[in-house]
Amino acid sequence: MLSIKRSSPALGVEVEGIDLASQLTPDQFEAIRTALLENQVLFFRDQVLTPDEQKAFGLKFGKLHIHPAPLGVLQRHPEVIVIKADETSSRIAGETWHSDVSCDAEPPMASILYLAEVPPIGGDTLFASMYAAHDALSDSMRRFLSGLTAIHDGSRNYEGRRPVSGPDHEFPRAEHPVIRTHPETGRNSLFVNRMFTTRIVQLSEHESGTILEMLFRHVENPAFQCRFAWKPGSVAFWDNRCTQHLALWDYFPHRRLGYRVTICGDQPFYRP
Ligand code: SIN
Repeated sequence: MLSIKRSSPALGVEVEGIDLASQLTPDQFEAIRTALLENQVLFFRDQVLTPDEQKAFGLKFGKLHIHPAPLGVLQRHPEVIVIKADETSSRIAGETWHSDVSCDAEPPMASILYLAEVPPIGGDTLFASMYAAHDALSDSMRRFLSGLTAIHDGSRNYEGRRPVSGPDHEFPRAEHPVIRTHPETGRNSLFVNRMFTTRIVQLSEHESGTILEMLFRHVENPAFQCRFAWKPGSVAFWDNRCTQHLALWDYFPHRRLGYRVTICGDQPFYRP
């Protein structure tokens, strides 16, 4: 149904022959949904999306998420985060491995990033499969981690930003299973990330720090990854429930500009 080209053995496919701004037929919608569940991240080229069209595409998959502390949003479109870097930037969004807003009690299920401007070279995004990371752990380590929970704290990454609601300096904080079961595929994946996860609740501080560092390094194994080289008009659509990603900032002082729409998710759970 869809023409697809695999990006790496672990995850990712490039999808051809679809205009995301158009009214998708039920078959097209189902094919995209299935491709996302099977491949964890989808890439599209040569798209032209207005904010309303990007939101309409996202809304087909669920309610849109409002970021608790965005670096920037589009005027009159609070659901559209501006992802921008140029010669004035001192930091960019997403430079550490993460799953989007995992500090929310119900973290987003997926994100859709559309880049309008890209640097002459660089600015790729790396994606990693947390199914692959989970499956590569030894049976003993998986048994040890199953049933453990960890704190994901927004203040770790959002410090210095203003929360969009609630008292100043209060960012979301949530406790989630270290191994999470995907609500649609039923597969288990590793759900801790360097950007937000601060502590495994059932371990001492020392034990937690050591195990988390081991897991953060495990997640970074290139065998679990694919790497996407953007062009103007490219779109990446990733499933936050089973992937992590990292934006490379190797193009300073050049400009990179895009827009992200994020789809609400549900409370993570673990089923052995
Ligand atoms: C993000 O959503 O974390 C940013 C990804 C990117 O800019 O490539």
